[in-house]
Amino acid sequence: MKTIFVTGGAGFIGSAFVRLVLEENADVEIINFDALTYAGNLENLIGLDDARHKFVKGDICVKEEVFAALPENTEAIFNFAAESHVDRSIASASEFVLTNVLGTQVLLDAARAKNVRRFVQISTDEVHGSLPEDDNAFFSETSPIQPNSPYAASKAAAEHFVRAAFETFGVDTITTRCGNNYGPRQFPEKLIPLMISNAMNDEPLPVYGDGRNVRDWIFVEDHARAIWLAYEKGRAGESYNIGARNERQNIEVVKSILDVLGKPHSLIKFVSDRLGHDRRYAIDAAKVETELGWEAQTTWESGLRKTIEWYRANQDWVSRIRNGAYRDYYKNHYGMEIGA
Ligand SMILES: NC(=O)c1ccc[n+]([C@@H]2O[C@H](COP(=O)([O-])OP(=O)(O)OC[C@H]3O[C@@H](n4cnc5c(N)ncnc54)[C@H](O)[C@@H]3O)[C@@H](O)[C@H]2O)c1
Repeated sequence: MKTIFVTGGAGFIGSAFVRLVLEENADVEIINFDALTYAGNLENLIGLDDARHKFVKGDICVKEEVFAALPENTEAIFNFAAESHVDRSIASASEFVLTNVLGTQVLLDAARAKNVRRFVQISTDEVHGSLPEDDNAFFSETSPIQPNSPYAASKAAAEHFVRAAFETFGVDTITTRCGNNYGPRQFPEKLIPLMISNAMNDEPLPVYGDGRNVRDWIFVEDHARAIWLAYEKGRAGESYNIGARNERQNIEVVKSILDVLGKPHSLIKFVSDRLGHDRRYAIDAAKVETELGWEAQTTWESGLRKTIEWYRANQDWVSRIRNGAYRDYYKNHYGMEIGA
């Protein structure tokens, strides 16, 4: 049995990764280490095989907690734990520096001390900054690191510490940089679940600026599978950009959600743009496709339908979040109330 240590496994992508790995690898057991911040949710882990999945509540910034939970000779650390929402980083960046940068360094120190075989850092395409609209340019592994938001800056800083651990101490590292994920269990502050949950409640759908910002969307399970392949087949010290070649303008995404739900486009409400809003992200996925033999298995149309179906079937999950501290965040950020 191989033991892997997954941080942030109660969040959106981490929980999808944990599910996929347990389902597809009978010889793997997982220690799922998560601080359960506002974004972490134990409900995301319901139904997992307890014999091979152990949840530990802990903070990646606290060395003692990490060292106590991480066994000697662990096969790999997968670091998903992060403050992950750009808007929150614009409101206050310190938590992002703490978790995303210091937390990553604590894990790298632990990896060395406990003789962990491989360290996988889950990063983002946002470290590359923004691409011009209507341009044929894409982010590849050799694109410059030029983050624009505090969130992206903290993820870029973390990547530099991962690189330093590889170069200085020979820690076996892999960095993955993915585009925008969507799928079940994403916290409703993010674009797609926000729009689905507001539309289901016949509330206004707040769209930033002119709505023409472009994101490269990937279904969360496709991302999880790419991370696993990068761990299995990736070369030490390398980074891998992951994308499904699925660029969409935000307004197009929002209209598709309304169409699937059978709701009117008049629910769309344009709001002041996000500060420093990156115009376009697009990923050249040639390296993961050729070197790792990965390709996205979920089309945009089927992924969006599956996602909407999940939110429809799990309205209690959404309601519990919308009735918690998220209400105040939403009101502060958008200047309007959400219903229950
Ligand atoms: N969501 C995306 O589209 C996307 C795209 C590319 C990369 N990523 C990266 O993937 C990772 C996961 O993203 P997500 O969307 O699932 O985020 P999320 O916000 O849904 O989940 C983050 C998880 O990390 C946990 N966490 C936060 N601080 C912690 C700490 N100090 N110690 C331990 N656990 C802590 C939270 O409790 C939560 O469970 C992040 O590193 C993010 O930067 C996300």
